[in-house]
Amino acid sequence: MVKHFLHISDYSSAQLWDILNLSKELKIKFHKKETYRPFENQSLAMIFAKPSARTRVSFETGFEWMGGHALFLGPNDIGIGKREAIKDISRLFSRYNDMMMARLFDHAHMVELAKYSSIPVINGLTDYNHPCQIIADILTVWEHRKTLDDLKIVYMGDGNNIVHSWLQLATVFPMIFVCCGPEGFEPDQKTVEMVKNSNISEFELSHDPESAVKGADIVYTDVWTSMGQKEEAKKREIIFSDYQVNKNLMLKTGKKTLFMHCLPAERGREVTNEVMEAPYSIVFDEAENRMHAQNAIMVYLTL
Ligand code: CP
Ligand code: NVA
Repeated sequence: MVKHFLHISDYSSAQLWDILNLSKELKIKFHKKETYRPFENQSLAMIFAKPSARTRVSFETGFEWMGGHALFLGPNDIGIGKREAIKDISRLFSRYNDMMMARLFDHAHMVELAKYSSIPVINGLTDYNHPCQIIADILTVWEHRKTLDDLKIVYMGDGNNIVHSWLQLATVFPMIFVCCGPEGFEPDQKTVEMVKNSNISEFELSHDPESAVKGADIVYTDVWTSMGQKEEAKKREIIFSDYQVNKNLMLKTGKKTLFMHCLPAERGREVTNEVMEAPYSIVFDEAENRMHAQNAIMVYLTL
């Protein structure tokens, strides 16, 4: 049966550790510029219904390093779900290509793409989640802390797709995950229930940044307005203004805390320039790890 990568919670702890270990191996190979071509004569179709820098460049660079050819299909190319039915694109690309990566709006469209596909489908972000990002993130946390034991992650801001993937990871890997943001912008209730029912991690919802960050190993944030919500930007800037990650907030953790952001960052809004550039900011290690984590995911799906 063909394997897809749509949600972190579809994988067991042992499987996720295999992916993380493989990511480390492939990162070393990439840095040594070793020849490694498991995807020789293969192609990856990359479907983007939304913009991207990291996802596009890391998938394309990674797949080509691994011997394959990656095709970029931008928001105006296919008209997926508009010009052509998702299930038709899915079966069409299954005939041409060996793997698909898609960035779509509606999560149900991602599930449909996978349902009709006979090649692996990788979720490169939907309105609901962003699993590749959070695999790269946890790889980065592991590299910096050397362990994932006793981990407290405090996420500051909008309860969005990034949070949902963190929560799905929390159903598999134990952690304390605190989501702190304004009322009315909490993460999806069903996903929160998944964490609670799994009895693996502790989940806490907070509206008070200073108390939320106490004891945090990681303070994480993301944009206040995600792609597709930009008409709400002005309104959200006011609502979220107390949730900015700045130097003062980082000082309130009471311990040596790392700062993470999936990027792109809007400096001066959800995070200050000072925090982005601080020695404890690991945002570029995190961004680099997108490629190594995804290379591992792509290889893992074909094993
Ligand atoms: N973090 C992330 O997915 O970045 P892009 O939107 O640039 O791909
Ligand atoms: N929440 C952001 C993540 C970007 C990588 C968005 O969906 O725009």
